[in-house]
Amino acid sequence: MAFPTHRPRRLRRNETLRSMVAETRLSRQSLIQPLFITAGHDLREPIGSMPGQYRWSLDRLPEMIDTLAELDLPAVLLFGLPATKDTEATGAWHEDGVVQQATRLFKQRAPRLQVICDTCLCEYTSHGHCGYLTADGQVENDSTLGLLARTAVSQARAGADIIAPSDMMDGRVAAIRAALDAEGYSDVPIMSYAAKYASAFYGPFREAADSAPAFGDRRGYQMDPANRREALREVLLDVDEGADMIMVKPAMPYLDIIREVRNAVDLPVAAYQVSGEYAMIKAAAANGWLDEQRTAVESLTAIARAGADLLITYYAEQMVRWGCV
Ligand code: PBG
Repeated sequence: MAFPTHRPRRLRRNETLRSMVAETRLSRQSLIQPLFITAGHDLREPIGSMPGQYRWSLDRLPEMIDTLAELDLPAVLLFGLPATKDTEATGAWHEDGVVQQATRLFKQRAPRLQVICDTCLCEYTSHGHCGYLTADGQVENDSTLGLLARTAVSQARAGADIIAPSDMMDGRVAAIRAALDAEGYSDVPIMSYAAKYASAFYGPFREAADSAPAFGDRRGYQMDPANRREALREVLLDVDEGADMIMVKPAMPYLDIIREVRNAVDLPVAAYQVSGEYAMIKAAAANGWLDEQRTAVESLTAIARAGADLLITYYAEQMVRWGCV
């Protein structure tokens, strides 16, 4: 008997065979493109630390909506940069907030595209934190819930298909669910950023969305990167409060968490490949140190393999253009 009997390499002999036995496939339907909407006119502002990503003013947004619709991407996740900021985060919940206006535009122009609105306050508060502050500079949990609920309702009223709270206040999913139901939006689902870590990988986003806290950091509400059991606790609480989908964020440094969450819940699991993950690939590729396309595809495949059903990624548009999905 010739040795060895078992030769796993038999199934790796050519491209077709390898693709037949691939255990994970990326699909266009699982991709969600984040977008930054800004106040102002005639803007398609490049974001320095995120090459290929732009801040769009409402009058220029139609060209991007048409592009995404032509590429047949299923969904966008909207973030807003308001003209002015205040302690009430008025820009977050105002009927004519940038995200509300953008949502209406999307629903008129490309009704099949699902609009996911990020529900948070840090882009809209003068101090850059995700809620009301106490005298000693902490974010006050319970009074902030009302502002978040108000924001979610205004987004639903504008036509949002999915509400995605990213603030990490305790009890916000229940508060938002109750408010949506009370206002007649009981059929609008909630995708909760359930396990959201206090991460250095959000750096480029804070430049993009002008949402860096004016003092301190977000470790008083976002999770400690050291914790795994706590992520499950956060996820189960959100499921209990009525979340329809669960998110883990960031993605690649937290593949173990994605897998744990996938095993623990039946709901769809999303993972967010955040700005810093994108920026690292871009920077290394720009230096000729990594092959951009292969690195992006491998990263997203790893995130899907870990158990994510939905991939929120700044590479969504590019993945379709590359023909990789
Ligand atoms: C808002 C929010 C942040 C991100 C998504 N929603 C920033 C933060 O929490 O500081 C980060 C996304 C990214 O880095 O791509 N709270």
